[in-house]
Amino acid sequence: MTTATPTKPAGLEGIIAGDSDICAVNQTSLIYRGYEIADLAANATFEEVAFLLLVGHKPTAAELDAFKKELIHERAIPDHARDVIKRCALGDGMHPMDVLRTGVSYLAQFDKDCQDNSPEAELRKAKRLLAKIPTIIGHMQNVIDGRDFVLPDKEMGHAANLLYMMTGRKPTQAEAHIVDVSLILYAEHDFNASTFTSRVIAGTLSDMHGCVTGAIAALKGPLHGGANEMAMELLREIGTLDNVEEFMDNAFTTKRKIMGFGHRVYKNGDHRAGILHKLGRAYADDKGGEPLKWFEIGEKVQSIMETQKNIKPNVDFPCGMTYYALGIPVPQYTPIFVASRITGWCAHVMEQHKNNRLIRPLSHYTGPELRKWNG
Ligand code: CMC
Repeated sequence: MTTATPTKPAGLEGIIAGDSDICAVNQTSLIYRGYEIADLAANATFEEVAFLLLVGHKPTAAELDAFKKELIHERAIPDHARDVIKRCALGDGMHPMDVLRTGVSYLAQFDKDCQDNSPEAELRKAKRLLAKIPTIIGHMQNVIDGRDFVLPDKEMGHAANLLYMMTGRKPTQAEAHIVDVSLILYAEHDFNASTFTSRVIAGTLSDMHGCVTGAIAALKGPLHGGANEMAMELLREIGTLDNVEEFMDNAFTTKRKIMGFGHRVYKNGDHRAGILHKLGRAYADDKGGEPLKWFEIGEKVQSIMETQKNIKPNVDFPCGMTYYALGIPVPQYTPIFVASRITGWCAHVMEQHKNNRLIRPLSHYTGPELRKWNG
């Protein structure tokens, strides 16, 4: 029998599970390597933030230029991988997150650094994954839409290229900017479930593609990254502004979770949500019609949640409405989250490998007393 002391907080709430130089999640600030998220969202590009997370410092102009060129150079994926994505995307019942998970896992065999966990090899792999994930997302959406594969652009930034590959249409500057900011907001969040998953896998000295594959599976869940899709589905279920009150009354009576609200760490609100809401709302104001309608419904849901439950939205709530306003298909919202969080995951895998100790906690046994198999 184990002599371990029982864990009091369910879900490891409030437990500090290790040190990290990468990110600090505080009640009133979210800091990536010393820079506050509002500062980054207002003044940096996603590529700059990706470099900051992966390499550890703000890039010089020359470093940024080289980094962007490397990413563009690495965007294409082999024909084999494209075929696998096509088969998966056409298969029955696979969510785009499953297709992406399979695509990332499959790409491992084409990466000559696959089994090399040295810092140099891991940085190369991180850049390749960052560059290729939008290609997987784009290609699978092309298959779903029944159009020819849109090949990666050789000049556009990460966000613009991602939108372009999904649709074959060059996004406007405003559209690319909104997605770019959303990617900055999504890039890193310390020991959240998917990142912790990646660190647990890394802790066994497994490889980066494996860590990321596991992290994608963790992010898919509706209590984590999957919430951005579920938040928009919930608004669609409500349908009209007039239905909001009755829907919410019902939800409270049946104790239904309202997706995109609440947070394990932030108890007074997730300030990423306000940043994205403002951008998405301005875009919807400009567009009017349907995009604006979803923001109006969403804001009413938010007001009821805040006044009646004192529960505030997390970043996934405005993300749902914002991506919808941009015309992005709902099942691609969480894969787009991956196109950003890949930077945080890879930074954590590298940090774990740099100073590794196997992550192996204990459980508190609550099963039957000791007994004999034969009597
Ligand atoms: N809708 C309704 N009630 C809620 C919600 C919600 N979204 N979130 C929390 N509550 C209530 C919950 O029912 C509980 O009430 P009571 O004490 O009466 O039983 C109380 O608030 C505490 O909630 P909890 O579920 O114990 O809190 P937690 O820290 O375990 O969960 C959470 C955090 C994010 C899983 C939860 O808030 C939730 O399920 N939210 C909806 C899913 C979601 O939006 N996930 C995205 C998380 S943030 C970004 C990301 O990871 O992608």
